[in-house]
Amino acid sequence: MNTMPPVLKPGATAPLRRPSAKRRLHLELRDGAAVIVFDRPDKSVNVIDTAFLDELETALRAVSRYEVKGLVFLSAKPSVFLAGADLESLGRLHGEALEHVVTRGQNVFAKIASLGVPTIAAIHGACLGGGLELALACDRRIASDEAATKLGLPETQLGLLPAWGGSTRLPRLIGLPKALDLIVNGKQVTAKHARRLGLVDEVVPKERLKARALALLDEPAPKRKSFFLTKNPASAAVIRFLTIRQLLAKTRGNYPAPLAALEVAGRGTWVTGGNLDRSFAREREAFVRLAETDAARNLLRLFFLQEKAKHDRHDPSVDVKSLPRIERTAVIGAGVMGAGIAQMIASRDFPVVLADLDPGPVAAGMKSVAALFDEGVKRRVFTKHEAGRKLDLVSPTADRVPLHRCDLVIEAAVEDLEVKKKIFADLCARTSPDTILATNTSALSVTELAKAEGITQPQRVIGLHFFNPVSRMKLVEIVTTEFTAPEVVERALAFVRSLGKTPVVVKDSPGFLVNRILMPYLIEAGRMAESGVPVATIDEAMLDFGMPMGPLRLLDEIGLDVANHVADTMVSAFGDRFEPPLLLADLVRAGHLGKKSGRGFYLHDRGKAVPDTFAKAPRDLPDKTAIANRLNELMAGESRRCLDEGIVRDAAMIDLAMILGTGYAPFRGGPLHGTTPNEPHL
Ligand code: NAI
Repeated sequence: MNTMPPVLKPGATAPLRRPSAKRRLHLELRDGAAVIVFDRPDKSVNVIDTAFLDELETALRAVSRYEVKGLVFLSAKPSVFLAGADLESLGRLHGEALEHVVTRGQNVFAKIASLGVPTIAAIHGACLGGGLELALACDRRIASDEAATKLGLPETQLGLLPAWGGSTRLPRLIGLPKALDLIVNGKQVTAKHARRLGLVDEVVPKERLKARALALLDEPAPKRKSFFLTKNPASAAVIRFLTIRQLLAKTRGNYPAPLAALEVAGRGTWVTGGNLDRSFAREREAFVRLAETDAARNLLRLFFLQEKAKHDRHDPSVDVKSLPRIERTAVIGAGVMGAGIAQMIASRDFPVVLADLDPGPVAAGMKSVAALFDEGVKRRVFTKHEAGRKLDLVSPTADRVPLHRCDLVIEAAVEDLEVKKKIFADLCARTSPDTILATNTSALSVTELAKAEGITQPQRVIGLHFFNPVSRMKLVEIVTTEFTAPEVVERALAFVRSLGKTPVVVKDSPGFLVNRILMPYLIEAGRMAESGVPVATIDEAMLDFGMPMGPLRLLDEIGLDVANHVADTMVSAFGDRFEPPLLLADLVRAGHLGKKSGRGFYLHDRGKAVPDTFAKAPRDLPDKTAIANRLNELMAGESRRCLDEGIVRDAAMIDLAMILGTGYAPFRGGPLHGTTPNEPHL
């Protein structure tokens, strides 16, 4: 990048470097202060790439040549300060080239830190990864109090670590334990939370951000806390030990990045003392090493797959611009799923009717919706005021209210084909011909529904399969039949994306995609338990593999009656490989339905689950690696069949769906990504 240094006229107040079609930032001089404004052209986000670093260096050089009282960083974007490194370009680099970019970022940020005049990051919007590392190189940070403002270092979630100075500067600013919590867990915090942590100095209304930052340049530098305790080798060793223990319990050693970040951040604080350069060198070395690991490659691929799922069209020939946006919605059935879906829709500011048969279930549904909003307030997803306003968008009803103005109706009533057929026929009469009619069924045939009597336009029938709990599960399977109109698919895709969920389009077929791939795995785990392999060994094997929950524990959560019923349906569709073990039917007959009845593969009592025993352990007990291999092979095999049958268009979408829908070990890349289980690290 060969940008000429901006020519600054001392005392000038007009913008010296106007926004241009090519530049990622521009420099203004105002009241004796310099302001660098991030504003990447033609994009809604600002990210850091080599061109950005070049321009920033040029601008810093210009600032240092003139007598300004200080420098403020701002963004011109409505909801992003700086979203971090440009992963697309970073993902292509290896070895020396990668090290070069890391060094370059460190050096440019070091120039901010040593500019010689006060520097302030005035943050509104996402300030993540490299963006926060830039802000950390400033003397002060102030942030807007808007929900869009989020600060965090998510690098470890991508198998990497903050290496543009973040792992070194953050512990020095807020102390090691709080810094580790942010770095190791990849947490994002609101402006107010960041203020409490000491990460930002002030929280101000967005409108006052720039004026306050400029005013702060005239105030004396704030006194920073010194963290003697965490610089003390003995207490630092305790913090390190506790964090490693907690990390290993959580990740079972499958994720090298958080451990490396802990090492770098920790040593930067307690061993080298004031030596920043040695700590930066460790950041660089660890980053380049981590970037070459399978975990980082797979996590980065997952990130790109999610991005792709955010934009890909199902049928590029459809003119999406001409399609009406889905804005008015209704949900039929106010049970677990209906309430969850209605809350999700309202949380994204769309009005939604929540209907059920009687006032009782409607009231129960609204209680769940309100509880979900309360939980969101506790988790700081929304303020109390926002939650109240969004809750008002849900209109509960037990009456046959008019639905003809709805763009979309989602049916989430009981799992009974006859009930659903009646609901759909009724909806056809009560809605406009353009209203999309969706079912949230987990196992029934969407095609049967579309063909049912009274369905006047089968082309507007589709499956929208949300996962439980709706507020947390990112995946939605969009189930299409041979009748579904391409415009309906595109509108559904856009709607699911507007809810912040990741859609995967699947062809209607028993179990759709995720449940179909999961079933042989669950069934085989049940068979193993039936043959005497201890329940704990089976579940531990898959936890070591990287699953969030063992298969038998998952069966207990799903309900053994539900699982047995689904397996029976799958046997009728696909044959013996879905045949459930006799043990499953025996347990159901005995009333042991899993968690909901207090007993299944585990004995559930006051939040504790103790594994039950079903047969004498066989002599040739398989080891955990063999168990994990076997169970994973079954998922991979079923995934391949789904691909061959055209249930989805490409293998990568299966990987994505399984990771988002079941928590399939993300660092492995997915069941079709070809990683075989390694020896479990304990
Ligand atoms: P639920 O039993 O909690 O709720 C069903 C609700 O539908 C009840 O409140 C019932 O009164 C109402 N209802 C029944 N007939 C109705 C009618 N004709 N009109 C209006 N409301 C009616 O069931 P849940 O768990 O919420 O499941 C709903 C649907 O979502 C089912 O098709 C299920 O297979 C599917 N699903 C369930 C998941 C889960 O984990 N629970 C996950 C994904 C899908």
